[in-house]
Amino acid sequence: MNEHPLEQLIRKLPKAELHLHIEGSLEPEMMFALAERNEIVLPYASVEEVRAAYNFTDLQSFLDLYYAGASVLVTEQDFYDLTWAYLRRAQADHIVHTEIFFDPQTHTARGIDFLTVIEGIRRALAQAEKQFGITSKLIMCFLRHLSEEDGFATLAEAMPYLSRIDGVGLDSGERGNPPEKFARLFARCAELGLPAVAHAGEEGPADYIWQALDLLKSRRIDHGVRCTEDPALVARLAKEQIPLTVCPLSNLKLCVVDDLAKHNLRELLAAGLVAMVNSDDPAYFGGYLNTNLTASRAALNLGAGELIQLISNSFVASWLPEHDKTFWLAEVRRIAAEEGYAA
Ligand code: HPA
Ligand code: ZN
Repeated sequence: MNEHPLEQLIRKLPKAELHLHIEGSLEPEMMFALAERNEIVLPYASVEEVRAAYNFTDLQSFLDLYYAGASVLVTEQDFYDLTWAYLRRAQADHIVHTEIFFDPQTHTARGIDFLTVIEGIRRALAQAEKQFGITSKLIMCFLRHLSEEDGFATLAEAMPYLSRIDGVGLDSGERGNPPEKFARLFARCAELGLPAVAHAGEEGPADYIWQALDLLKSRRIDHGVRCTEDPALVARLAKEQIPLTVCPLSNLKLCVVDDLAKHNLRELLAAGLVAMVNSDDPAYFGGYLNTNLTASRAALNLGAGELIQLISNSFVASWLPEHDKTFWLAEVRRIAAEEGYAA
């Protein structure tokens, strides 16, 4: 099939990715290789069998496989290899800045040291900055299906390494685990100078987005697509320019939407929200950042202006220093103009 002309624009523009779970970039091939290296028996006979199991009906059906898959990650080298594989894909997609999530509780609960996890990830991030010029932030997520007390224990384990953590997040099963459950934990993180983000309004109601803003002081909302059920919330997100890190293929695979053509991404942009596209768990959801952008373009018939807006928003919503944001936003405009699209 011929490439749509806007796919070249998507490939050529520099981009930031702000919603990426590093454990969700574990491709089945690497899952098998690490299982063998660590002498772990997987409940699958082949890579094809793993891929065939990726038929999700909701968030929980995915999380069950995602946590099981992560059990092959044991050594510092495993976390390095995982992160490095993602960063090579990021470079291929012309991502110049990435803010990645990691889930320490998934690993420490299995007896893996916090230090093993963070050293492996950080070593790969440093290598990518040196070798590819990709800058990054690292965001520690708390698992919301666990207790707040468990979160406090994880924060205590993280204390010696806070200089290597750029912020905190909240992920895992949303239903029945509202942000308010973690209000004290996030207040403590704020005292420690850690900025917060939170998954909200993916499967959970718009009320969870209000809670993430008011009770957790979340600076961005991860997913947030259910905000359109509450016009007063949309007005607030627009007024305060709170970014939404939208993940279209994730929403499709987890049945948040039943058809990509019905996704509200365009509606979010039209409402003046700082929405952008991300890949979430690319190994499980069928594609990395450029695949998410090209699939969204095709399904929603997005125009050049909308794509340039989404990609510009990825920098606006990032935690890059202001002068870096200014630089990349000018680069987006310059390259778009070179490609024949006035921004
Ligand atoms: N939602 C909640 N938790 C997650 C996700 C997600 O999309 N991906 C990995 N953990
Ligand atoms: Zn996510």
